[in-house]
Amino acid sequence: MNDFPPYPAGLRLAGRRVVVVGGGTVAQRRIPPLIDAGARVEVVAPEVTPAIEGMAEEITLTLRGFAETDLDEAWYVIAATDDAEVNARVGAAAEERRIFCVRSDDATAASAWTPAVGRHGSVTVAVLGAREPRQSARLRDDIVEALREGVLTASGALDHSPGVVLVGGGPGDPGLLTVAARQALASADVVVADRLAPRSVLDELHADVELIDVTKLPRGRSARQEQINEVLVERALAGKRVVRFKGGDNFVFGRGFEEIQACRAAGVPVSVVPGLTSSISVPGLAQIPVTHRGVAHEFTVMSGHIPPGHPDSLLDYAALGRLRGTLVILMGVENAAAIAAELQRHGRAGSTPVAVILDGSMPTERQVLCTLASLEETIEAEGVRPPAIIVIGDVVAVAHPERYDAVPAGAGVALTSEEA
Ligand SMILES: C[S@@+](CC[C@H](N)C(=O)[O-])C[C@H]1O[C@@H](n2cnc3c(N)ncnc32)[C@H](O)[C@@H]1O
Repeated sequence: MNDFPPYPAGLRLAGRRVVVVGGGTVAQRRIPPLIDAGARVEVVAPEVTPAIEGMAEEITLTLRGFAETDLDEAWYVIAATDDAEVNARVGAAAEERRIFCVRSDDATAASAWTPAVGRHGSVTVAVLGAREPRQSARLRDDIVEALREGVLTASGALDHSPGVVLVGGGPGDPGLLTVAARQALASADVVVADRLAPRSVLDELHADVELIDVTKLPRGRSARQEQINEVLVERALAGKRVVRFKGGDNFVFGRGFEEIQACRAAGVPVSVVPGLTSSISVPGLAQIPVTHRGVAHEFTVMSGHIPPGHPDSLLDYAALGRLRGTLVILMGVENAAAIAAELQRHGRAGSTPVAVILDGSMPTERQVLCTLASLEETIEAEGVRPPAIIVIGDVVAVAHPERYDAVPAGAGVALTSEEA
């Protein structure tokens, strides 16, 4: 009987009782997809992992050994204990009740196999190999990747309804795009992109996708934003699905909400795919943490595009100067000298460590270290140009103890349970 190939089927388990016997890591991996499918999951095991315990609100936990009657009224069973004898009993009890049963220990003895599963939009990819789980998982990954990149197309899998999707593209490396961002790009009829959006993924767009490069739009800054809003609304009202593709996250100095307001005012449906903001990810890539136990319990992200003292500045430098945590400055290269002076005037020590990270996540990425007092001359001497992130605070010394003498006071103090 075992020489026959499996017969694939998509089980619709919503509201149906599924019994998982076993509470270890195998069961732990099997349970979430069952919950996602809407199944009424019952786990039977004398002991369960903390992760399974954490699912207690979504499943029924029966903390004892397996009894054959556990399978009464079940539609599907997973035998996932580390005891082959128990798994065999589960298999036999399932067979007797004509319930399909997966066995984690012995696929040849099972009446059902679990495929390697991936999803792309509304399409589910399930690969059943000849009992070679790794091979199946690799093939599944290849298929899902090909769908994401548009090498394979699954028409109907993606949402093509008219409207605008604000998509954050991360700091520049296309590898740092989210899965949702890739899916949104694959669904677009029109892509409206900025200079800092990851450019190489734009080459992958289908030839009939209209690409609008807003850095080429003429006129001043706010006029350009009005034009962007107009393009988004006009294309969406013409029935197109428009992706507004920006670097980082659209809501961190990205004017994303102005675009939402314009869409709402015109009755255009709009949704958001958050991106990895450069304010955290660029320091992260450079291995500078924005917080560190015992060193920085807060981080503040500010824009440096307006100099201190300017009537349009919304920053409270007296408060910023008093902060002890990490200060991350975006768009700060031009005004760095004035900002550093103002922070010192309000109490931040001139010896505070500073890192400037240029072209984060790109092949040209570079990091320059200095102090608040030497920031101006360092920017000058090193030829620092935007895009750059300036990180101010003791976390820089934690990341580079070889460069700064003083180990920040308090680094490595005992953990509280909150921090642990
Ligand atoms: C208009 S702001 C947009 C920020 C973006 N929305 C985000 O969340 O990252 C542009 C500034 O972000 C910073 N920036 C963005 N990408 C960067 C990168 N890859 N490397 C360094 N700085 C970057 C620079 O300070 C740049 O001047």
